[in-house]
Amino acid sequence: MRSPFTTGPFKSGSRLLIGFGAVLLALGLGGAAAMHFGLVPVSARPPHNALTTAVLHDTFRASVERSAREVGPAPDLADPGLIALGARHYGQVCSSCHGGPGLGQSPVALSMRPRPQSLPAVVDGFSASELYVILRDGVRFTAMPSWPSDGNFNEIWAVVAFLRQLPEMTPEAYRAATVADVAGTGAPPAMAWTRRGPQMPVKLHDEAGPIEDYLYAAPSTGWRPIGLQDVPVAYCAACHGADGTGAPTGGQAPNLAILDADTIAARLRAYAEGTRESGIMATVASSLSGPQIEALAAYYADLPDRTLGAPDRGDPERGAVLARRGDFARALPACGACHGGNAGASGLGVPRLAGQGAAFLER
Ligand code: HEC
Ligand code: HEC
Ligand code: HEC
Repeated sequence: MRSPFTTGPFKSGSRLLIGFGAVLLALGLGGAAAMHFGLVPVSARPPHNALTTAVLHDTFRASVERSAREVGPAPDLADPGLIALGARHYGQVCSSCHGGPGLGQSPVALSMRPRPQSLPAVVDGFSASELYVILRDGVRFTAMPSWPSDGNFNEIWAVVAFLRQLPEMTPEAYRAATVADVAGTGAPPAMAWTRRGPQMPVKLHDEAGPIEDYLYAAPSTGWRPIGLQDVPVAYCAACHGADGTGAPTGGQAPNLAILDADTIAARLRAYAEGTRESGIMATVASSLSGPQIEALAAYYADLPDRTLGAPDRGDPERGAVLARRGDFARALPACGACHGGNAGASGLGVPRLAGQGAAFLER
């Protein structure tokens, strides 16, 4: 019996297939030749044509919509502390590309292809989960970065909470939300960069090859060169407050006034190296010089111990039992066994919790 593929409709079908394959091969070879001889334009000067824009953006929207279905529930996005924390991160990182309410975008950003959108105009088109996905994953083939840490993604909700406020915001309210209020507290002390200090290896995402083309190290130049500008406390105060308690962000940024110098310095280095994961603190800490880390640790350790008021929720008596005695039945040790007494001053790397902000502890 003859093979069914050499007779009847199959025969002309296989000819068609061969023809189709040949055309594909020719197209592929032609494409490769065009790439090899530099015939493919890569200039970012002309805008994308309507087709490229539509294909890229539709693919992006569909992908984000799909991933957003797997995102867990959002925290309370109306929490003023969360919004304030997100505002400060937005001002330091996102505004360089996306502008702000009533404020134009940087000419550098407008020269990118695709161009980053002015967010006050477009954020309403995305759900909170979609925004979370865009901030966590970034957008491939564009300048939109993924979140600059490999974990602690919960902090992304702070920026989402702020994005929700953007469309209604005035330029004046935007400035107030993104700049530290240090009026009435005296000028923040200068802490000169002086010298770089030891170079620290940075652990972040999968490193790309060829490895000698990239430098995963801190101190780095930074998105905002906070360290190079010699007055880092002015930035810290935006989130942690001039008194270090974290008041401007309702305790979302932890209370630094209760920590000892060794803990503060160790934490700053760990954020810079990426061994303690926080996209928010990584952008800050990676731009500080070695001498500035020491100076900041001494500065915050010297501030008088102050605490934010306790929140009016939860059960303080039940908490006290857990903290002092633990819960044997649930194999929960007494927190105070490690965190009590002179924790924070013991040099053992156990932070002090008494006086720490509730919002940060919860997170
Ligand atoms: C280096 C520039 C850059 C930075 C920094 C940046 N973005 Fe983007 N962003 C982009 C570009 C480019 C796009 C993609 C535009 C496109 O696909 O059309 C984008 C897209 C977005 C979008 C989708 C907008 C839309 O209408 O499609 C959102 C939302 C967004 N960024 C939020 C942020 C936030 C919040 C931050 C800060 C955490 C941030 N971006 C930081 C460049 C940047
Ligand atoms: C944009 C807001 C923001 C700015 C600016 C900022 N921080 Fe933070 N900081 C945070 C948040 C949020 C955390 C908690 C991160 C986490 O989840 O680990 C944190 C954590 C810390 C911690 C760890 C404290 C602990 O109890 O674990 C230290 C130390 C610290 N920051 C110091 C600084 C210093 C010094 C500066 C200025 C050079 C600064 N921060 C600027 C938001 C900020
Ligand atoms: C066996 C000792 C030990 C016990 C018991 C313990 N902790 Fe801790 N805890 C630590 C250490 C060590 C760290 C610092 C970890 C690090 O640096 O990453 C820490 C960190 C923390 C932090 C982060 C604080 C900050 O400023 O970064 C919180 C919050 C915390 N513990 C809460 C608790 C609570 C609540 C309990 C009781 C239910 C408890 N811990 C019991 C050792 C302990």
